[in-house]
Amino acid sequence: MYNKGTIIPGLAIFVLIVTSPLWLNAFMTGSTVPKVELPPGGETKCIASATVMRSSHMQILNEWRDDVLRDANRIAVTVDGKEYRKGLQMACMECHTNKEKFCDACHEYVSVKPYCWDCHLSPTLAATKKETL
Ligand code: HEC
Ligand code: HEC
Ligand code: HEC
Repeated sequence: MYNKGTIIPGLAIFVLIVTSPLWLNAFMTGSTVPKVELPPGGETKCIASATVMRSSHMQILNEWRDDVLRDANRIAVTVDGKEYRKGLQMACMECHTNKEKFCDACHEYVSVKPYCWDCHLSPTLAATKKETL
């Protein structure tokens, strides 16, 4: 017949070996979401809650683009009593001035590469362009 004494430990070892890439990876990369740099300007609120922003900022950006370009609606959003005009550079980057330590830090971690910066300027790039003009 079979030996119960070896089947269970054998199974345990098998499961451990099969799943090892998963937990080894988590262990070696210290798989925690990167700490992003929040607005250095002292702003404390985003245009929506952090949870909503984390899950839906891509959709919000698309809606804004359509509002501005298709419907010519650049109505301001008000955060903490201050008005920001709808726009990637005019609102988002006005607060999140460090694209590298905010947008990029998180995107690198999740491996997404938004192509927006092919045309839109990040605050750092806008500053260097101004200097060289
Ligand atoms: C091929 C060039 C190009 C690319 C790539 C591009 N955009 Fe734009 N975008 C434009 C232009 C041109 C405008 C119009 C600017 C204006 O009228 O102020 C615009 C306007 C916008 C606006 C509204 C106005 C503003 O000032 O922000 C948003 C929001 C926006 N784009 C978001 C995005 C996002 C998000 C991405 C990436 C997913 C992206 N765009 C990629 C060219 C581009
Ligand atoms: C008025 C300043 C301001 C504007 C404008 C703004 N943000 Fe924020 N954003 C913040 C602040 C402050 C936080 C942190 C909020 C918190 O932790 O409750 C934040 C949080 C976020 C987060 C979540 C970060 C995390 O903790 O994981 C994302 C994503 C984000 N913003 C993207 C955007 C995008 C995209 C836009 C433009 C559509 C934008 N923000 C416009 C100030 C701003
Ligand atoms: C807390 C993490 C985090 C931060 C901070 C963050 N993003 Fe993202 N972003 C994501 C994730 C995750 C995705 C991919 C979502 C998906 O594939 O559904 C994404 C996707 C996007 C996309 C769509 C790209 C595509 O190819 O579909 C755009 C545009 C974008 N982010 C813009 C921004 C901008 C602009 C900022 C900085 C102002 C920013 N994000 C900050 C996590 C973040």
